[in-house]
Formats: sequence, C-alpha cells, structure tokens
Amino acid sequence: MTSQTTIDYAKTDVFTEYAIAADPHGFFEYLRAQGPIVPLGNRNVVAVTGYDEGCAIFRDDENFSAINTVTGPYLPLDYDPHRPMDEQIDSCRAQNGYLASIMSEDTSAHEKSKAILNGIITPARMKANEAYMYEVADQIIDEFIDKGRFNVVTDFGQPFAQLVIAELIGVPEEDRVSVRGMAADPNQMPGNLGGGFDMSANPLARMGMQFYGYVLDRRANPRDDVLTRLCQQTYDDGSLPPPEAVVAVATFLFGAGQDTTVQLFAAMLRLLADNPGLEDRLRAEPALIPDFVDEALRIEGVTKSTFRYVRNRVTIGGFTFEPGQHVMLNIAAMNRDPAKYEAPNAFNLDRKNVRTHVAFGRGLHACAGGPLARAEGRVAVERLLARLKNIRFDEGRHGPANARQFQYLPNYSLYGVIEQWMEFDRV
Ligand code: HEM
Repeated sequence: MTSQTTIDYAKTDVFTEYAIAADPHGFFEYLRAQGPIVPLGNRNVVAVTGYDEGCAIFRDDENFSAINTVTGPYLPLDYDPHRPMDEQIDSCRAQNGYLASIMSEDTSAHEKSKAILNGIITPARMKANEAYMYEVADQIIDEFIDKGRFNVVTDFGQPFAQLVIAELIGVPEEDRVSVRGMAADPNQMPGNLGGGFDMSANPLARMGMQFYGYVLDRRANPRDDVLTRLCQQTYDDGSLPPPEAVVAVATFLFGAGQDTTVQLFAAMLRLLADNPGLEDRLRAEPALIPDFVDEALRIEGVTKSTFRYVRNRVTIGGFTFEPGQHVMLNIAAMNRDPAKYEAPNAFNLDRKNVRTHVAFGRGLHACAGGPLARAEGRVAVERLLARLKNIRFDEGRHGPANARQFQYLPNYSLYGVIEQWMEFDRV
C-alpha cells in the first residue's frame, strides 16, 4: 500500500479519520520522524512507534494497566489525581462489562482468566485442532473452487477461523453450522473510528448465551468430550470458576481469534498476488511457509495498535509518562522500526529476524492464540497453494495494479479490508 501524502497529520485525528485507517503507515512515519514516543496533542494520548520502547511498556504491568486495550482513549474514566488510581480503574471496570475481558484485566483477575484459558489451549488440543484445520480448509475451498474467484474475507477467512475455534473449544459438531456467519459488523467492532460500538449487536453475545447453556449442561451431565473438560477446568487453587467466567473467556476467544486471523489470510493473499514468483517459491520450498506467515504479520500490520493506561509516573526511552495518559502502542509501526529491521518497508521472505515481530504483542497479555494463528496461516497457505494457482486480484472489483481500490475497516486498532476478491486457476 502506498503512503498518503496529502493528509496534514498534525491536524488530523487518528481516532476518527478514515484515510489513516485505510493507510496507517504514512501517519506512523510522521510520528517516527518526531521520535519513538510522541504525545499526540489530543485525547491525552502518547503514541509509541519504537520497537524497544514499546516492548518495555508491554512488559511493565506495574506502571501500565491494560484496562483500555479494547477502548483506547474512549475509556469511560476521567482520571482524578486526588483519588487512588486502583480504585478508579476498578470502579470503571465494574461498570462496563467489556472492560472485564481477559485482554483488559490486570494481574490477579487476569491470572484467573488465564487459568481457564490454559485449560482450553493445551498442546493436545492444538494437535487435534491442526488435523481438523486441513479437513475444514479443503471443505471450504471445495465450496468456491469451481467459480474461479472468491472473496477471501467471507468465502474463506471467516468460515475457516470460525470453525477452527469452534472445534478447538469443543462446540459440538451439530452446533457448528450456527457458528458460521457469526461475523461482527465492520462498523461495530472495538476500535471503531469515533469510539462508538454496540456490543449488544455483536453476534458474540448470542455465542455467549449458547456457551452459558453448555457450561450448565456439561457440569450437570459430564460427558467424555472437550467441552466437559473446558467446563470443569478449575482455577489454580482447585476451585471451580463461576459459569460467567468460563463463558467470558470462551466467547472472547471467538472474537480475538476471528477478525485478526481473517485479515492475516487477506494480507497473505495480497502479498502472493503482488509478488510474482512467490507462489512458485513457496510450492517448491514449503518449509518457507512459516516464515512467509510471520513476514506477512510483520509487514502488513493487522493488529495496528493496542493501548495501555498509565498508572504511575514513569520514564521510558527518555519520555516521562504521567498517570491517566493513554499509551497507543503502534504494533504495526514497531514492526517497521528501522532500528530493528533492515529495509523495514520491504517484504522479504529471507529476513533472518522475522520471528521477533510483535504482531502478537509481548509480556503478560501476549496473544494466547499466537501458535494457533500461525498454524492456521500455514495450513491455509499450504492448502490454497495445493489447489489454486495464479492467484490474482479481481481487477473488476479492485482496479489495476497502480490504482487498487479497497474498502478498509473503519478502525484505529485493526487494519484490514472489508472484502477482497481474488481470481485463480485450478492447479
Ligand atoms: C493473526 C492473528 C492474531 C493476531 C495478530 C493477534 C494479536 C494479538 C495481540 C497483539 C494481543 C495482545 C494485545 C495487547 O497486549 O494489548 C492478543 C491477545 C490475545 N489474543 Fe490474539 N491475535 C491473533 C489471533 C488470535 C487467536 C486465533 C486467538 C484465539 C484462539 C487469540 C486469542 C487472544 C487472547 C485470548 C488474547 C489475550 C491474552 C491475554 O490478555 O492474556 N488471538 N492477540
């Protein structure tokens, strides 16, 4: 994607401006030119583009709270320097259900949710789930292969990601049909430009209700299945979590593991279409596919930005953060920091340090689904390349090479497209 040169970034609000959501890298370079940590001058936000500085913040749970990961600066909390910080954070969290998800929790609450999560994403489950990925990838490709074209987002990415997570957490096979098509409205996702999003309209609410039923049922009538083991998973002290806690973690997995992974698939197919010879090289050297997935995660910046809330005055990278500030950790910019990556704006399949990227974050909240997402990316590329060739953009939809057109997610956290039509020949 090319950089926007016509925007006056100094006067433009990243939290409302579609042009930056559509092309964030021009904005990130504008920030980087001022330093690795820069106050934005509005909404009490400090933006980070430096790799080392961002990693130091990711790892500092003492001075930075995760309460604003989902809301960014639209956190319903007006910091009052005369009241204890923890009390303000706790009462804000108590009033807003979506601030209680694992990604926004701090220390002890987070530890409890993590215990439930550890019961879901086990090595044995991951292994079984990978076998299912191959099966489901082929089933989904069968649905469009005769058409010679497909929309990566809805025809491949969403059903694949939805069914894989459903299998991972043990949604019974007969109920998986209802999971398909459970995608959120692109205008109602966390990180929505302007801040407003309506979780009650999110299909995950329906998933939550379904899961509540599973927990009650499997606790009363245990069976020998994945779902029963998940519903019976205990905290580290041996106590059984309340049903709502299990539902919250399981439902969060559906949300966290969907749009991100879908956009990873779309990004990888853009790279395949834009780099002649790449398809053939990956077919000839399949051992390079994992590196391809990681370089796509690095350069395409699906998880564009996440947030932390400053608890205490602290100095990092020469910058002093003040309590109540929002830190915008621009992952996509950290992944293109020239101090870390040589020729950072170029796609390079042979990049030696590609695995150091922070697309999955770092520290306490580092992505629990990272290994799963990497496996999904690898299996998807393996199966798509086994069955499709000459993968190219549908130029009737997206225009010619020098003037591509996409509708982008109107989002300041997640970068991606609303649809992406590709054409292909059968292998
Ligand atoms: C390409 C795909 C994905 C990307 C780029 C991605 C990225 C991220 C990032 C950056 C974070 C940390 C945010 C922060 O610290 O503020 C995160 C957290 C998380 N992700 Fe992912 N993710 C992906 C796929 C998945 C999948 C497939 C799952 C689940 C099956 C998942 C589950 C989670 C969970 C549970 C957390 C919260 C962890 C915690 O707070 O302890 N993610 N993800």
